[in-house]
Amino acid sequence: MKIVVSAGPTRERIDAVRFITNFSSGKMGYAIAGAAATAGHQVVLVSGPVTIAPPPGVDTIRVESAAEMATAIHSSAADADAIIMAAAVADYRPVKQLEHKMKKTDGNLTIELERTEDILKTLGEQKNPDCILVGFAAETDNLLENAIDKQKRKNLDWIVLNDVSRPGIGFGSDQNAVTLISRDGRIIELDSAAKSVIAAKILEYVLV
Ligand code: CTP
Repeated sequence: MKIVVSAGPTRERIDAVRFITNFSSGKMGYAIAGAAATAGHQVVLVSGPVTIAPPPGVDTIRVESAAEMATAIHSSAADADAIIMAAAVADYRPVKQLEHKMKKTDGNLTIELERTEDILKTLGEQKNPDCILVGFAAETDNLLENAIDKQKRKNLDWIVLNDVSRPGIGFGSDQNAVTLISRDGRIIELDSAAKSVIAAKILEYVLV
């Protein structure tokens, strides 16, 4: 199968030296890309800026912003058998991105932000029935309800729910524990384990 995986954060530039980003390490997406390559699939990994090395046997496309990630994903999506959006894509970017370094003034500063493209929502709207579409939901409360709502809104075959309020799992950690929810309402709990183990199990469930 051809599998497209996104991973890591995006960076949305404010000026020549500053940007908005988030704490995503990219480890979960990289583990999924690695597990898919180990299982013999053709893997395209679209990665935001991270410090970890790409897994062997994976075609890695490095991007910075949500807009660059959108372009890379859409150009690899047409013949994909599965798309797994593990990236923590910024939902907003500065309306103005200054080419020079902004100088400080005495008063407060307000930066106006605009929405980025919701890449997963676009993929869901244009959904190819032969392509398995998987999203991630990072939630702190009303976990299942919020994840199922996100799955419906984005027309996903599977959603991977991460409880980001639990210490020791998720962002930056080598461990994770997730709940998989299928379009037909199956709910599968994957207990705390190394991200490589969770990655292989996610693929076992979703790639059928
Ligand atoms: N996503 C995306 N494009 C964006 C934002 C998110 O493709 N601009 C994808 C992520 O890769 C992930 C899923 O959508 O698979 C997360 O959905 P999102 O609505 O951003 O959820 P949260 O980040 O949990 O935010 P919120 O609960 O505020 O909707």
